[in-house]
Amino acid sequence: MFPLSGAFRTPGVATFPGVDNFENPSRSGDKRYFLETYGCQMNEYDSALVAELLAERGYSRTEDPGGADLILVNTCSVREKAEETALEKLRSIAHHRRRNPSVRMGVLGCMAENRRESILERIPEVDILLGPDHYDRLGQVLDEHAPVRKLTTALGPDIAQTYEGLFAAPPAGTTAFVAVQRGCDMKCSYCIVPTTRGPERSRPLRDVVEETRRLVHKGVVEVMLLGQTVNAYSADDGTFAELLVALDKIPGLRRVRFMSPHPRYFTEPLCRTMAGLPTVCRHIHIPLQSGSSRVLRSMRRQYSRDQFLRIVERLRTHMPDVSFTTDIIAGYPGETEAEHRETLSLMEEVKFDTAYMFAYSPRPGTLSADMQETISEPEKQARLAEIIELQRKHTYERLDSCVGNVEEILLEGASRRNGEEWIGKTTHFRKVVVHPGSDAKPGQILRARITARRGQILWGEIA
Ligand code: SAH
Ligand code: SF4
Ligand code: F3S
Repeated sequence: MFPLSGAFRTPGVATFPGVDNFENPSRSGDKRYFLETYGCQMNEYDSALVAELLAERGYSRTEDPGGADLILVNTCSVREKAEETALEKLRSIAHHRRRNPSVRMGVLGCMAENRRESILERIPEVDILLGPDHYDRLGQVLDEHAPVRKLTTALGPDIAQTYEGLFAAPPAGTTAFVAVQRGCDMKCSYCIVPTTRGPERSRPLRDVVEETRRLVHKGVVEVMLLGQTVNAYSADDGTFAELLVALDKIPGLRRVRFMSPHPRYFTEPLCRTMAGLPTVCRHIHIPLQSGSSRVLRSMRRQYSRDQFLRIVERLRTHMPDVSFTTDIIAGYPGETEAEHRETLSLMEEVKFDTAYMFAYSPRPGTLSADMQETISEPEKQARLAEIIELQRKHTYERLDSCVGNVEEILLEGASRRNGEEWIGKTTHFRKVVVHPGSDAKPGQILRARITARRGQILWGEIA
């Protein structure tokens, strides 16, 4: 999974509508809520779930915290910077709560779990702290708050929580996130997510299928299934492969993506199933983290460099034109210069389309937080810069190799700058600008010949 703020928003395409934008479900009622979301797609999905729960209680969304009765910030703890950004946001809007005694302010998400004390210490205006397993209590919490201001918290993992029977607000566009799994059972040494989101559990297959059906009914044609180790999905009523098969049968659903899979769960039968399903996209986000087997062992990633490469090979054997994206951490404690070079050489071997690249950030409470940091901040940044530079070269190479191809482009929306220019995506998750004519509609799939690359974007002509 990768953060939506920052890397996901490719510079230069901010004027196009994104997928991380759910509809504003508003029923009758005059209460307003403001909701800002940080972190990964899972948080974005959860915000859409919260939006739906609030709509059921007569709230409608406002973009203006000054006009809101309820101010919510859905937060991320994955790196220190993410926490600082959310705290800064909370601090900058807290005066709305001070000014108006009827306003309530809540913190949702991973920081509510992980940074309860420092949130309350630094932003005393906070009334509500809800962890990711407790959003269904929002209604009750708001009722309790109606007459009085007090601190309400609902935190800690709830292993039974899959939000059974609840469905998130549909997105404004034609692509939707669908959470299929919550929590994580891995213990990657650097990662706070298992602490903030609790143990892994899978949502019933029938709920995932039902939510997707409803989305398709609303005009969605592409879903991205979400889970921290999404390909380990295993519900009482189905495996991940069975879920893909079930979704493939939904009329009107054109594309299925998923994020983030764990390399070790790409079994031979799963790869075979994926290759046989027309809806499953030819793009895999396969988080690497490091190209050094020693570092991977220290990270407890459960695969070696060679095993990672073999899995990439397996996926390519089943789907020869598949594209890969990845996550990489630079400057993990103890990483030597030679081990850093192993990451670069693995990148050369695989040639990822894009990567989400991070400088290691120690998270208190994780295993690696107790490890001596051996790499100075400038050195860490220098290694990260080298990784980014190499990736940029690979991104350009991969995109350049598409010029001349005819690709199916799923239209997402028109540019705000120029209504004749539309942005769409190939099955490989590559962005393409086309001029589809005045009949174009979001969600349409058109064939286009790729004519050029400009920066990280392809340009095409309708074929
Ligand atoms: N379950 C997903 C990860 C979610 S966190 C997966 O395994 O891919 C998203 C990414 O953030 C991770 O893949 C990792 O690259 C990065 N990340 C997590 N913890 C980090 C830390 N402490 N410092 C730097 N990057 C980190
Ligand atoms: Fe974190 Fe590892 Fe779980 Fe991903 S698989 S959420 S990196 S512990
Ligand atoms: Fe996602 Fe950040 Fe939580 S990456 S799972 S919102 S710590």
